Amino acid sequence: MDIIQTIHFPTTDSVLTRALPVEVSQMKADLYVADTNTEQFLSPEQKERAVILPPGESAKHFASVEQIVGRALEYKLDRTSLILGIGGGVICDMTAFAASLYMRGCRVELVPTTLLSMVDAAVGGKTGVDYGTYKNMLGTFYPAQRVIICPEFLTTLPQKEFLCGLAEAIKSALLGDRELLELLENKTQAILARDPELVEEMVIRCVRFKGAIVEEDLRESGVRASLNLGHTFGHALESITGFTAVSHGEAVAWGMAKAAKAALKRGDIDKSYFDRIIAILEAYDYRLEYDFSVDELIDAMGHDKKIQAGKKRYILPAGLEKHLITELDEELVREILG
Ligand SMILES: NC(=O)c1ccc[n+]([C@@H]2O[C@H](COP(=O)([O-])OP(=O)(O)OC[C@H]3O[C@@H](n4cnc5c(N)ncnc54)[C@H](O)[C@@H]3O)[C@@H](O)[C@H]2O)c1
Repeated sequence: MDIIQTIHFPTTDSVLTRALPVEVSQMKADLYVADTNTEQFLSPEQKERAVILPPGESAKHFASVEQIVGRALEYKLDRTSLILGIGGGVICDMTAFAASLYMRGCRVELVPTTLLSMVDAAVGGKTGVDYGTYKNMLGTFYPAQRVIICPEFLTTLPQKEFLCGLAEAIKSALLGDRELLELLENKTQAILARDPELVEEMVIRCVRFKGAIVEEDLRESGVRASLNLGHTFGHALESITGFTAVSHGEAVAWGMAKAAKAALKRGDIDKSYFDRIIAILEAYDYRLEYDFSVDELIDAMGHDKKIQAGKKRYILPAGLEKHLITELDEELVREILG
């Protein structure tokens, strides 16, 4: 089958390519990085030159990056060498981070294998690792030269992980793609069943949306902050549940519901748009109420990395394809969290 989509992002120097698993297994690189769940997508030849890391967030620390860099040195890679990361957001973030550091930057290409990494993590040039309990505290802006998207890899993905990515797709739809929103609203069951054509359309729409924003604002000095819709609230929920009990996607979905509630209370959106947001989140069965202490949540929000000059900024929906960035009175935050 031919490659069916190629999207260029000139500023960030990235190219998005649609490929098939068989094409991915024939890709040539100087070093491959995968985890124990995604090494199944490597050919025997690729595996011979691969760093295989443990799966999940607990491996997202500097020691894993040192492992990649150590192997790059062992294989005598130079700045023109290519490192190919095949995995979810964790592998994509770490591979690109290692590539950005190695000899001050070598070539990197990414094959995202989770929905979250296809629609979000692999696109946009943010790399990094966690430091202690601080998520993504160390990192660089280093867009991959090529992101190779292969939705067929999603067939082995657990449903919980699929839903994690779907929350980000809903976010993109609310922020900037009304047709995607309608697709997500009208084809819920088919999307949950991972209808290949619908999933592909959803992924492409999300990548186009994020790509356009990143083109304009790679370093998040302006419009890119809108991508954090639901994240200020969501991050607090993830944080107080130790980044394990509630997944990132579940937290973002909950956070979007809270942001919508704040927007409704302030009069930024009308009740019918609020109901629409809640309805789509409920249609995908996200839990929108948790019984956690408001004080704990507010305290966790105080540690958010996105706070600038001591100010907490919230992204709120402001109507179809519209958002606003604002501070909120603590009283209102308490009310909507309570
Ligand atoms: N750089 C960015 O802009 C950006 C944006 C969003 C999220 N992120 C980061 O992404 C990470 C989360 O990414 P994620 O949700 O993909 O998590 P992940 O990389 O941990 O993958 C989730 C799980 O799915 C497994 N897996 C991956 N692909 C699979 C497949 N095709 N079949 C079966 N299992 C598979 C993984 O091994 C892992 O166990 C976080 O660290 C987050 O900080 C980065």
